[in-house]
Amino acid sequence: MSSATLEGATRPPVVVPPHPQWPALTQDEKAQLKARVRGLLESRKAVMVAHYYTDEELQALAEETGGYVADSLEMARFGTESEAETLVVCGVRFMGETAKILNPEKRVLMPDLAATCSLDEGCPAEDFGAFCDAHPDHSVVVYANTSAEVKARSDWVVTSSVALPVVEHLSAQGEKILWAPDKHLGHYVERMTGAEMLMWDGACVVHEEFKSFALERVRRLHPDAAVLVHPEAPDQVVDQADLVGSTTQLIKAVAEMPNREFIVATDAGIFWKMHQVAPDKTLIPAPTAGEGATCESCAHCPWMAMNALQNLERVLRTGNQEVLIDPRIRERAVVPIKRMLDFARERGIGRPSSS
Ligand code: 13P
Ligand code: SF4
Repeated sequence: MSSATLEGATRPPVVVPPHPQWPALTQDEKAQLKARVRGLLESRKAVMVAHYYTDEELQALAEETGGYVADSLEMARFGTESEAETLVVCGVRFMGETAKILNPEKRVLMPDLAATCSLDEGCPAEDFGAFCDAHPDHSVVVYANTSAEVKARSDWVVTSSVALPVVEHLSAQGEKILWAPDKHLGHYVERMTGAEMLMWDGACVVHEEFKSFALERVRRLHPDAAVLVHPEAPDQVVDQADLVGSTTQLIKAVAEMPNREFIVATDAGIFWKMHQVAPDKTLIPAPTAGEGATCESCAHCPWMAMNALQNLERVLRTGNQEVLIDPRIRERAVVPIKRMLDFARERGIGRPSSS
């Protein structure tokens, strides 16, 4: 493996919001809201595209109404394939922006445009541009969890399902790589590919909370459990994994691996889909407590939690919270995103449908 360099591109402090406290709904109120959402989706020729970390009510509604529940790669793909005039992206800001960049003719709405991501927040376009300017001989590979402006500065966009093969491909061509913003995913890719990578100092506040010592203890209590880890987790947690992968890859593992028990190190929102694909298996959340616990998010993304039935209904009714992208930024950002989609399609990465 070639020597890795961690550059001092320091992330600005990220303010993590408290989890939103949605007023509890009675069964009747829920049913009424859902009925209104169904009607509005139809009258607006709209479709829901939801991430696995969103509320289970939203995931179920997306599937019941002909929408889609997926990881970030498949969400992007679905938007380009759908014939709907409006995409309602339930997830975080970069997912809505990617949908708009790929589908400028479609209206893209989100329940709350303030739903961002610590990786995106921790990588401001101006500072990132300066980092790129300082290393003009590097291929710029950015994680999808970034702003449209940061993507516009990149050569490649990757999600967690394509990061490894893309970097392997570039490294085989002798390319030096500038990677941003997730240092944990970057370290994992670097270790797996041996690529030479300069890294931005960013992290996911949710995955960074998984604790390796506490995980060792849980593994001792469940020696037959397979450990599934999203690569945004720190190295010492990734090192204990039986499988490291994107959200879709982790769900597939629960369905396909012979184990009866799984310890899962990713956002708790994923359990709804895992239970759906493997109802007879036992799912154990990996610990975020233990030595050095800070537990700001407790394995649930505070920005994903900003998506709820209430604001979904509101945004469909009012048309507020529309994702808009400066056409000059879009023109540049679409190139590396399409490069990723073409690469994934040519290599048969991902799958056409989530349900
Ligand atoms: P996936 O692409 O694996 O769904 O990851 C998105 C994400 O934000 C994980 O925190
Ligand atoms: Fe961003 Fe982490 Fe939330 Fe995913 S879980 S959207 S990486 S903050």
